[in-house]
Amino acid sequence: MSRRRRLAVALTAGDLAAARVETCTVAVIDVLRATSTLVQAFAAGAAEAVPAATPEAARRLRDADPGALLCGERGRVRIPGFHLGNSPLEFTPERVAGRRLIVATTNGSRTLLGAAPAPLAVLAAFGNAGAVTAALLAADRDVLLACSGDSGRPCPEDTVLAGCLLARLRDAEPDAELDAPAGIALDLWERSGGRVAPFLAGTEAGAELLRLGLERDLEFCAAVDRLAVVPRLRPGTPGVVGPGRA
Ligand code: MLT
Repeated sequence: MSRRRRLAVALTAGDLAAARVETCTVAVIDVLRATSTLVQAFAAGAAEAVPAATPEAARRLRDADPGALLCGERGRVRIPGFHLGNSPLEFTPERVAGRRLIVATTNGSRTLLGAAPAPLAVLAAFGNAGAVTAALLAADRDVLLACSGDSGRPCPEDTVLAGCLLARLRDAEPDAELDAPAGIALDLWERSGGRVAPFLAGTEAGAELLRLGLERDLEFCAAVDRLAVVPRLRPGTPGVVGPGRA
């Protein structure tokens, strides 16, 4: 990068509207669980994923493409009548390889839709943190880490992943400039000591997953650098495609 790179964080999907999406490389974050699940879906060979803001919008998209799979949750459980919920463990090669997914989750889908104007937007999770860091550094632009938050409020699980990515970006570019929310995210990561699993289990969302008996989902979402896939949005549209396919 020919000048000091600027690293910014949007703490909620709502903050994305005010951010400089059009000029940045954006990393979309929803650790529990939307982006962790979609990264797994593309590692399992999914062809494409299209976010929908509501279950009704998802069903309308499916009417136009009956071969697509309806995926999504409300209250962290599968939406009635949908093929899949939002657990990363459901997105196996047998279920999703070569398939088009229509995805309606509470927060993550909204952030994906908000990131559509970005020249490059990638999906980030702890599972592909290293690969995402490389993709952000390879693009000659400022970076915006777009946390989904929880129904309009910042959430620690997304903010701590943003902090993890910031620490890695700063390792590569020590003079990179952080905005105020990025400073908060980096602090949170440093305070977590990098102990991701206990940190996530201690969040409200983590506690909710445990209450629902979804401890294996939590374990999956806490695993770091297990996947090399970096799904990205097709520029200018909200459609998400796997790596390497424009
Ligand atoms: C969301 O998008 O709000 C979450 O991914 C919900 C969930 O945990 O399934």
